Amino acid sequence: MPTLAVYPGSFDPLTNGHVDIIARGARLFDRIIVAIAVNAEKAPLFTMDERVEIARAVFKDQPTVEIEAFDGLLVDYVARRRADVIVRGLRAVSDFEFEFQMALMNRRLNGKIETVFMMPAEQYSYISSRLIKEVFALGGQVHGLVPDMVEARLRDKVSGQPTR
Ligand code: PNS
Repeated sequence: MPTLAVYPGSFDPLTNGHVDIIARGARLFDRIIVAIAVNAEKAPLFTMDERVEIARAVFKDQPTVEIEAFDGLLVDYVARRRADVIVRGLRAVSDFEFEFQMALMNRRLNGKIETVFMMPAEQYSYISSRLIKEVFALGGQVHGLVPDMVEARLRDKVSGQPTR
């Protein structure tokens, strides 16, 4: 049976840490779905359409990586897609508590789905979408920490330009 994994998240915006985890997941599993949560954050900087468009553009040459939005409970989405595994990235010990809670809650909700944790490359271990947004909004450089398309879209947002 081919293995299908779901990598869920807010991706607001996609960072090179996410890209690194997706690339590792794509080597480990036959297919990986990047599942973008509709209501994970109340006021996301990037709309759902923008988040989906960016991820699809970044992975356009990787046929085993699929991008989709999802709403509702993650385990229900994973079961609907007939996937076996949830992938989550672990950057530091500080991530562990929340991730452990989520993994065990998801297991209680559906005992057939396993959560697998993957570590990004060290150079991405301190990046988060929240920090990227904060640093960029205050005029800091995020080059090399996010895909070029995300950097361009962040510039558009700050300058009030319509998104390309
Ligand atoms: O990138 P994030 O914000 O850390 O991702 C969190 C996400 C989207 C994976 C989590 O909030 C989630 O699974 N949301 C869907 C609703 C759900 O199933 N909640 C219960 C999780 S135990």
